[in-house]
Amino acid sequence: MPQDDPAAHIEELRKAIRHHEERYYIHNTPEISDEAFDQLLHELEQLEAEFPDLVTIDSPTQRVAGRPIAGFTTVEHVVPMLSLDNAYTEEELRAFDDRARKAVGPGGGPIAYVAEMKIDGLSIALAYEDGTLVRGATRGDGVRGEDVTVNVRTIRAIPLKLRGGPRGRVEVRGEVYLPRASFERMNREREDQEEPLFANPRNAAAGTMRNLDPALVARRGLSAFTYQVVVGYGDGLPPSREASADRRSLGGGGQTVPGQGDSHAATLTAMHRWGLPVEPHWRRCDTIDAVVAFCQEWAEKRRTLDFETDGVVVKVDDLALRERLGATAKFPRWATAFKFPAQQAHTKIVHIKVNVGRTGAVTPYAELEPVLLAGSTISMATLHNAEDIARKDVREHDTIVLEKGGDVIPKIVAPILSLRPSDSTPWTMPATCPVCDSALRRDEEEVVWRCENPSCPARLRRSLEHFASRSAMNIEGLGESLVDQLITQGLVRDFADLYHLEASQLEHLVVTPRQPRSDRAVPRKLGKVGRNVTDQIERSKSNDLARLIYALGIRHVGEKAAATLARYFRTMDRILAADADALQSVSDIGPVVAAAVRAFAEEPRNRTLVSRLASAGVKMSTDLPKPTDQPDQLAGKAFVLTGTLSSMSRDEATEALERLGAKVTGSVSKNTSYLVAGTDPGSKLDKARQLGVETLDEEAFLALIMKP
Ligand code: IVH
Repeated sequence: MPQDDPAAHIEELRKAIRHHEERYYIHNTPEISDEAFDQLLHELEQLEAEFPDLVTIDSPTQRVAGRPIAGFTTVEHVVPMLSLDNAYTEEELRAFDDRARKAVGPGGGPIAYVAEMKIDGLSIALAYEDGTLVRGATRGDGVRGEDVTVNVRTIRAIPLKLRGGPRGRVEVRGEVYLPRASFERMNREREDQEEPLFANPRNAAAGTMRNLDPALVARRGLSAFTYQVVVGYGDGLPPSREASADRRSLGGGGQTVPGQGDSHAATLTAMHRWGLPVEPHWRRCDTIDAVVAFCQEWAEKRRTLDFETDGVVVKVDDLALRERLGATAKFPRWATAFKFPAQQAHTKIVHIKVNVGRTGAVTPYAELEPVLLAGSTISMATLHNAEDIARKDVREHDTIVLEKGGDVIPKIVAPILSLRPSDSTPWTMPATCPVCDSALRRDEEEVVWRCENPSCPARLRRSLEHFASRSAMNIEGLGESLVDQLITQGLVRDFADLYHLEASQLEHLVVTPRQPRSDRAVPRKLGKVGRNVTDQIERSKSNDLARLIYALGIRHVGEKAAATLARYFRTMDRILAADADALQSVSDIGPVVAAAVRAFAEEPRNRTLVSRLASAGVKMSTDLPKPTDQPDQLAGKAFVLTGTLSSMSRDEATEALERLGAKVTGSVSKNTSYLVAGTDPGSKLDKARQLGVETLDEEAFLALIMKP
């Protein structure tokens, strides 16, 4: 490698990284280990840090932009993003073919189609300019979507730079989706956090895409497939009137780019060549009979794919023919979506049992006679809550209809009443907790029943998992399996016990770690890794008070409320001593949170727990900046940050400003209210001076945000 020429070295590294990204994320055939890949990326990061002028927008290091953004702007699709008409049966598929042939006119032979998977995700429009990704937008209502470029850039299957491929502005359309394994992992995490589960990967992908924190989006493991090229769109790039009419009638696809070919099959091949992710199982079908066969084949085989698909999209292959067919107001006439039938099975409910979560919430579920549904054996189904069960009148020993449709989680549709045993009785919520036998209670206005015993072992297990989780005390290695062992072996009875564990006590425990990139889980002795866990526990002692409050799992106190409490009251003692009025006087803390904090503070067992944590050395105070009395005192003010601040990171400064109602933007304009300049300010300082924008040094900035 040309070590003496940094620009060339950087370019070589980028090329290699792009190549390996494509091998890994598009072809599923990595050539090097994850470590070797990380090393290349790290080397590039270091070089770019050394030569910041050489950083370009399409560098593989530029996938995550950094801090959360304030919101998405609206994007107009010059070529509307249409949706597809559906066909549910073979007859409807053949009717689609008949209509197309009629529209083409008499004398034509059979129409050739391309059949491809219908990916159950979220449509996306990717704009490339001279081969570089410049924008990603959601479909929205088809005419207007949202600019989600920052999030799209984090998806490694989407190339930031095309290999060869068209020059000028080109829009590539496709689908962003969550691979099955990522979806399942994400729902497991949500379950641990007692957050509502995503019903299907489509909702999960859509929810993720609209998240304002690109770093979180990057962690979720989204992927993408592309299936269409649209030419000649653009911001302020008015297409000629005829071309525009063409494109509208087509729903995209009026013109082609060099190398694309004149058929859809050729287009997909070209896209693949340019390094775009193309779902590989598409097939060119000479007749509608071949399409029908393809649909039948994949209705079964779809389970072998690592993404969810709810059907097959059937597209006329010949692009000129597509143009002749055009579109209705809603759908193109050259394509249709064949939807796979929802899959149902009948089975029997053996028992209705309940599960106890961290907050004591008790959720009923049905234990089923195992049944094969859509390729997996189902032996359990959630029943949500007692009201849901009553509404559907689902009872123990009922034979029920189980369905797996677009939703991945199978649901109980209804009981089959004719098969109900004559001695059947309606199900009722048990009076006591199945794990610790304490009485279950329900608040007037809630549908959820709860076990209120804070030392219930079931609650303890979930609480410990929450305590250790990434956004709480962030104790790496202390996952489900280890927590389970610690409780069963009697090593941990509450959070404070964690801080008295010795590495030697952990060595012999057997854990079953989940592999991040696969679902392989192999039980093994913790061995020396026990030392890492105790190191992590030790390190967590110095976490900020905000994390600790969240980790304690006080009801209704999420991450944000925990940080607010920490910032206002500064120490654990003061929070526990504050009465409901004092708590509620803090903006963002309402009566529900205040009451929950009081209830926690008044429980003697919680007081003991907190003092045991304190004597174990867990930090009970905060370093977060003090809040002001007027939280919105900077509302309407626009700030720009430049240079390095010694007292806080740029993210923290941004967060502090946003909490006070200010907006933080990236560049100085005449609308900027203040420029905050740390040491080594950049060119923004000159720009601010030119425009007469007021500049604050670090001291003045701190005085402003900490004003009592
Ligand atoms: S082609 C003119 N191909 O399905 C519309 N769409 O129900 C062209 N979808 O909005 C769309 N997989 O988001 C096409 N292989 C595929 C697809 C696909 C999923 C989505 C797409 C579209 C929706 C229509």
